[in-house]
Amino acid sequence: MPESKPGFEPETSVDAALSLLRAEGLAGPFACAIVTGTGLGALARGLEEAVSVPYARIPGFPEPGVSGHGGWLHAGLLSGQRVLVFEGRAHAYEAGAAGAMRVPIGVARGLGARSLLLTNASGSLRPEVGPGSLVRLTDHINLSGLNPLIGERSDARFVPMVGAYDPALSAHLHAAAGAAGIPLHAGIYAWFCGPSFETPAEVRMAGLLGADLVGMSTVPEVILGRFYRLPVAAVSVVTNLGAGIGDGDPHHAETKAVAARAGDDLARLVAAYVARRPASEP
Ligand code: HPA
Repeated sequence: MPESKPGFEPETSVDAALSLLRAEGLAGPFACAIVTGTGLGALARGLEEAVSVPYARIPGFPEPGVSGHGGWLHAGLLSGQRVLVFEGRAHAYEAGAAGAMRVPIGVARGLGARSLLLTNASGSLRPEVGPGSLVRLTDHINLSGLNPLIGERSDARFVPMVGAYDPALSAHLHAAAGAAGIPLHAGIYAWFCGPSFETPAEVRMAGLLGADLVGMSTVPEVILGRFYRLPVAAVSVVTNLGAGIGDGDPHHAETKAVAARAGDDLARLVAAYVARRPASEP
């Protein structure tokens, strides 16, 4: 399975994308770069003084093909802090390659983002953490067999993954959730390639392996964030119970609808998170 097209040089595209975006006035630093998942694009609507560029105009950026995903890069003010919002992501299941978000994450680094906040929609394996819950990711299990760095030639490809979900940013997320009065759970995310939803047996297996959530995204971006030396935090919006858990029988229309509703809580959490800098940040 191709992880990148032959002849595709990601760093050349990162440089070209940075030139274009700087010319559009997107200069850093940014307190954080945020990637929004299915139905969670509402976050971008809360930005002030936003400058927005469609992915289609940016070299090396993917064309997100899932309904519920935009395809816009925004720079603007959130809670008085300058942030980048990547509205929409490409998934490994779209083209069979996990590196589709490599150039956007490289651009986040190149534009001076201090950290990366990833959001997604997921199925929960814990009935008590039902639809509408917000869960901070503590770790992940990559069940896809894919990796965004397959084909990368430099030794930087051997990315260490202990502490991949940055402990200081995690503490900061919990403090923000407390301040905003939003319950925030913590859990381990199992990445399935998709695009079909999991079978009940697969969800049971993920549970036996220690997962709390299942989903089809985010893990490649965590790896890429580490590759580009960006501290990473991730928050999932539970849209359904995993297949076979209780009455869990996920459908895309349901995930989009629940994500859109729970997106308001997520937007408030992110606004509170961005409002204050983590104590440990340089
Ligand atoms: N499985 C995989 N991805 C998902 C799910 C799910 O149950 N819900 C939302 N995204």
